[in-house]
Amino acid sequence: MRVLVILCGFVATVAALSMRREDQHEKGHKVVPALFDGKCYYPTGDPHFPKNLEQYMGTWYQVAGTPFGPTASARCVKAEYKLTSAGSVAVTNTAKVGDRAIVANGTAYPQNNEYGRSGVLKVMFPGSPDDPCPGPNYIVQAYAHDHAVVQTPNWDVLYVLSREQHPGVAKIGEWIEHAVALGSNRTEIMEFDQNSC
Ligand SMILES: *[C@@H]1O[C@H](CO)[C@@H](O)[C@H](O)[C@H]1NC(C)=O
Ligand SMILES: *[C@@H]1O[C@H](CO)[C@@H](O)[C@H](O)[C@H]1NC(C)=O
Repeated sequence: MRVLVILCGFVATVAALSMRREDQHEKGHKVVPALFDGKCYYPTGDPHFPKNLEQYMGTWYQVAGTPFGPTASARCVKAEYKLTSAGSVAVTNTAKVGDRAIVANGTAYPQNNEYGRSGVLKVMFPGSPDDPCPGPNYIVQAYAHDHAVVQTPNWDVLYVLSREQHPGVAKIGEWIEHAVALGSNRTEIMEFDQNSC
């Protein structure tokens, strides 16, 4: 399938209707690049995502993001990634709801080049409904050694991931700003609780 690079103005279109020109300018950005495959819009992956996937493996704590599904009321949301010999990634997501621990094990597959050269994966969990988007559902928009900003198609769900469980409010705030600059909807973003784990 041919993938066209387009300028994705959906956020800007809505904002432009209700904002004066100078307000739009103050808010900055709001027009971000996307890929389109006829069904969905995909954020573009960070070109600095590690070429060697091993560097991305290990533990990531979700410190902010868009509440979604079973993690919406959960705390201590954590992901463990482990490279398999087949080149896929074994995913173990854990969280707590009250005293109850929840676990979801899945597999992530790096996607082909049409969707970007790096940082684009498709994560699948057994029993999950079919994904309406043919492309990746885990796009690392920004990667640094200590954090990652991850989005899904159509900017539906944001995950702000940290190597440290408690990176501090200043860093989390900065990372959220970056996610907003990359097209995430600020009003929908919440900090995630990593206490009493
Ligand atoms: C952002 O999210 C809020 C809350 O869901 C919604 O009301 C608003 O329309 C969204 N903004 C855009 C630009 O989509
Ligand atoms: C999920 O994966 C972890 C670590 O790989 C394993 O210990 C656990 O038994 C698995 N749980 C389920 C429900 O498959």
